[in-house]
Amino acid sequence: MTDRAVAKSLKVVVLTLKYLSVLVLHGPNLNLLGQREPGIYGSLSLAEINRLLEDEGKKLQANVSPLQSNHEGVLVDAIHAALGQHEGILINAGAYTHTSVALRDAIAAVNLPTVEVHLSNIYRREEFRHHSYIAPVAIGQISGFGVQSYLLGLQGLVHHLRNKS
Ligand code: DQA
Repeated sequence: MTDRAVAKSLKVVVLTLKYLSVLVLHGPNLNLLGQREPGIYGSLSLAEINRLLEDEGKKLQANVSPLQSNHEGVLVDAIHAALGQHEGILINAGAYTHTSVALRDAIAAVNLPTVEVHLSNIYRREEFRHHSYIAPVAIGQISGFGVQSYLLGLQGLVHHLRNKS
């Protein structure tokens, strides 16, 4: 094996074993999950979803740090603060998905791999939910699978982070 090949294999091993850190952002009104329109968003509370994400994170060797806010600026600040702290972002921006240029610009600014998720299928719902400001700056979007959207999104993000270089 050449030195270069050895260095490449070592890099693969390090990336495979490294514990990753993922910021999980939940936008407005998601604090009411469980009681908020359960026919659309399901019956799990946000705390239960976060617990499932933590469990999934353990399987994937990734620490998840969840944060929910009803305030756009708090979410923007959290995205800025993710630089140097987290390797990627999993975000359900709630209604800000459809309105927030500021969140889109924050994600573009930090340039951290970001996956967008939605509990409901936003494309089967009202027209105003069909457009996402986040999608063009995300590596991917998962929508419509309830809590599984979050878990699939985390899997996709971690897979991307481990395979990108
Ligand atoms: C949502 C879909 C959005 O349109 C809505 O405003 C939400 C939740 C979802 O997870 O399905 O708050 O992001």
